Amino acid sequence: MTSNNKKHIKASITAVGGYLPEDSISNKDLEAMVDTNDEWIRARTGIKKRRVLKEKGKGTSYLAVNAANNLIARKKIDPTTIDLVIVATITPDFHCASTAPSVASAINAINAYAYDISAACSGFLFGMSSASSFIESGRYKKILLIGADMMSSIVDYTDRSTSILFGDGAGAVLVEPSTNGYGWEDEYLRSDGIGAEWLKVKSGGSLFPVSSETLNNKWHFITQDGKTVFKYAVSEMANATEQIMIRNKLKSDDIKYLLPHQANKRIIDATAEKINLDKKKVLMNIEQYGNTTAATIPLLMYDYEDNFKEGDKLIIAAFGAGLTWGAAYLTWAYN
Ligand code: COA
Repeated sequence: MTSNNKKHIKASITAVGGYLPEDSISNKDLEAMVDTNDEWIRARTGIKKRRVLKEKGKGTSYLAVNAANNLIARKKIDPTTIDLVIVATITPDFHCASTAPSVASAINAINAYAYDISAACSGFLFGMSSASSFIESGRYKKILLIGADMMSSIVDYTDRSTSILFGDGAGAVLVEPSTNGYGWEDEYLRSDGIGAEWLKVKSGGSLFPVSSETLNNKWHFITQDGKTVFKYAVSEMANATEQIMIRNKLKSDDIKYLLPHQANKRIIDATAEKINLDKKKVLMNIEQYGNTTAATIPLLMYDYEDNFKEGDKLIIAAFGAGLTWGAAYLTWAYN
């Protein structure tokens, strides 16, 4: 039998879960920490507060495990039937060992193998590319993809250019073969190392291992050239979204919702404007959570799940450090 005769398997998201830590840092709280103010932050970013995991001894795996357990309880699945656990994160518990195996063990996914992927704010989108490919190839049948980041662990709360933006959280999706023809339709993914300088944690890797010099220079914190990142994010997120629409002959009216990475409300607005999308179709939760990096898009799915109906055409768009960015088109698979 040639591959042409094989039945095409489509991958679909069949369940979602989420977790946000209880503690939060409001704009008012930040006013006491850095030279900023609530009005400026709301006007320039759309953020009012961000959730943070303050308890000592808990890291990104704690967020990921809670999101995964939330999904498992809601979907009532047996975790031992999961084949693969992928955790998208740039704030792993440790640089070595990876976080996903700890998560898989903690949720009793004892028959799964597990690994992390690192693509910053595009982590969930890139993770969906891997998960959907494994399903489409027929290799695996049940994949748990979790976007989780504890950004508070790499944010310098004396730096007003980053501390106002980031928060902690985790979102999870289950990816399985579609039973109704709906699911992952197309993706347009890109990266460009030219922008590595503009958004990064400089030390802790092999180039600048932790030393007294790196600590004194605060290279263990995330730093960015906000203006440059902003410009690239606006043009590339909009461009990727346009590309995916053209390729799939989608008009703005065809799209039920846009699920954009939640970095800055102005970036989101500009993307929506470029594709001429009604504001009501643009999903946001940035006001309450800030930028939770790999978690923003699955958390949107978690928060807005009740709005989605089988067959709805959704667009995902993301942009992040690397640089990494892209967009994807999916049809929602369940009510
Ligand atoms: N509070 C108050 N004032 C601030 C401020 C803050 N936190 N940060 C900057 N300012 C001031 C600046 O000093 C400047 O003042 P001036 O006009 O008197 O010189 C003014 O506000 C504008 O600063 P600018 O840096 O141009 O602000 P901006 O509009 O670019 O907003 C970011 C800054 C960081 C919010 C914005 O660039 C951004 O969101 N960038 C993208 C970051 C991002 O998304 N990163 C993650 C990618 S996934």
